[in-house]
Amino acid sequence: MCGIIGYCGQKPAVPIILEALKRLEYRGYDSAGIACLCDGKLLIEKDAGKVDEIIRKRSLADVPGNVAIGHTRWATHGAVTQVNAHPHSDCSGSAAVVHNGIIENSEQLRQELTRMGHRFTSETDTEVIPHLLEDEIKNGLSLEQAVLNIAPKLEGSYAFLVASLNDPGKIIGTRRNNPLVVGIDAPDYYVSSDALAFSPYTNQVMSLEDNEVVVLAAGKVEFFDARGNKLVKQARQLDHTWTENHKGSYQHFMLKEIMEQAQVLDQTIHQDEKTFNTIALDILRARQVIITACGSSRYAALVGRYLFSRVGKRFCDVVMASEFGYFADSVDKNTVVIAVSQSGETADVVDGVKAARAAEAQVISIINRPNSILADLSHQVIHLNCGPEMAVAATKSFLSQLAIFYLLSFAMVNAFEEAAAKLTDLSSELTRVLDWNKSELIRLSRTLKDKSDFYYIARGINFAIASEGALKLKEISYIHAEGMPAGELKHGTLALIGPGTPVVVVCPADYTFSETLSNAIEAKTRGAYIIGVSDRESDVYDSWIKIPQVDELLYPMVAVVPLHLLAYYLAINRGCDPDRPRNLAKSVTVK
Ligand code: G6P
Repeated sequence: MCGIIGYCGQKPAVPIILEALKRLEYRGYDSAGIACLCDGKLLIEKDAGKVDEIIRKRSLADVPGNVAIGHTRWATHGAVTQVNAHPHSDCSGSAAVVHNGIIENSEQLRQELTRMGHRFTSETDTEVIPHLLEDEIKNGLSLEQAVLNIAPKLEGSYAFLVASLNDPGKIIGTRRNNPLVVGIDAPDYYVSSDALAFSPYTNQVMSLEDNEVVVLAAGKVEFFDARGNKLVKQARQLDHTWTENHKGSYQHFMLKEIMEQAQVLDQTIHQDEKTFNTIALDILRARQVIITACGSSRYAALVGRYLFSRVGKRFCDVVMASEFGYFADSVDKNTVVIAVSQSGETADVVDGVKAARAAEAQVISIINRPNSILADLSHQVIHLNCGPEMAVAATKSFLSQLAIFYLLSFAMVNAFEEAAAKLTDLSSELTRVLDWNKSELIRLSRTLKDKSDFYYIARGINFAIASEGALKLKEISYIHAEGMPAGELKHGTLALIGPGTPVVVVCPADYTFSETLSNAIEAKTRGAYIIGVSDRESDVYDSWIKIPQVDELLYPMVAVVPLHLLAYYLAINRGCDPDRPRNLAKSVTVK
């Protein structure tokens, strides 16, 4: 949830760290801070707020030095305050630590350390790390040995970096269950939660396995295993598309990511047919298939479930990743588990996959971010190839996930190529949807911005699109919204619908049309304001969001685009920042 970055080299470190923090803000943006080693001093600057605000407030840009670490926070332990922002230090103020993850036994460690005379200044779990290190360093250990010694005492998940006056010129990093990647551009070295942070400087990376330690020092980088044995690693080259993350002329990343979906679809389709055919066969042969995911990825999985059933005649279940563990009893070696995650590091998904692996299930992951924890845990990985998604709320990655499920379901009936061709034709339709509806969506967002509740309904394969539309609205505009199968409306929710309540009805002219429209009429009878998302016009709609007529299994892809755009414009009209919604992060690495 938090983002960490370290730099050690010949350039001024702080400007690099500050730029990197802006790129890492998708991981958390309630506070930020830096620590810099310079002229025998350790300078720590941190505050609550967004990176840009803090840079201005604390005049960070001019801080000198060639070794620095930085952090952008999504609070878990301890309120959003200056004191709780990272870096955290020890009693002597000689070390600085930035951390992503949760130290689950921090309370116990804090009590022990307090008994031994340590003084804590923050409410965070992280602060135990510098205090533990302080004791090891007092005993004469080097900084890297101190890190190796304390790591077994820490329970939970972490990736952390340390810079210390006791060993100036070095940054030590280690990880367990949270990402950490090293960027190589000798004599300059970088280390971060995400290679995106240092992408303008290098695409040569080396990854760390759990419990390994990296030491960045002047002109060199060294790796050690948990016992302190030196490791030899080879650098890999990252795909250049992963490094492009400019907003261009768009006001927000979210708008850019919505607008670039036609192009994204073309990128996603470039998949290895053989891999898809193999995975499709595994799915067909398995005793049971379970898809697990969170948030938008789960809604994509729900569309996938319909596709598997309708095209591949294969029933599967979709289990929310945070609930997956409670079903682990029925998972065995004849189970295929498909994990869907844009980031590849959502803690609940990772945990579910670990449980599946323990039960000897076959694990297939559908991931966007390269080199993720989830990829390492999976037998097979399908990449979305949609490039970095910078806005917190998923848009283009959702569309890519739908495309992958479409390809997979057709691969089950040996028709991968047919599916790929249909998706290729669809990209121009996506551009058309945006052109047709932009002004109506802007108008709607102006008239409906003060509504307190929205309802989204649809049936069959489109039902999950209603849920995704509602989730997007909640996430970025803070309006209460519910998405549900249209048939469920009459089992309770209809009681909440009154004059003027917006009801978004996703009813393409497919096998769900007539019944969904009947449910829309039930809502309209109670005074609802009906927004129809359809290729067929109807008097029932108060506003018509026109989508093109496409193959009926492709409607989810054309219907979701205007719903994402509606959420975006509503957020803007309500004065919310759609890229950085409150209380959310893009990578949820806590349970
Ligand atoms: C967070 C994000 C959502 C995302 C969900 C799952 O809640 O804010 O946009 O859908 O995590 O993330 P994943 O990376 O696993 O797809």
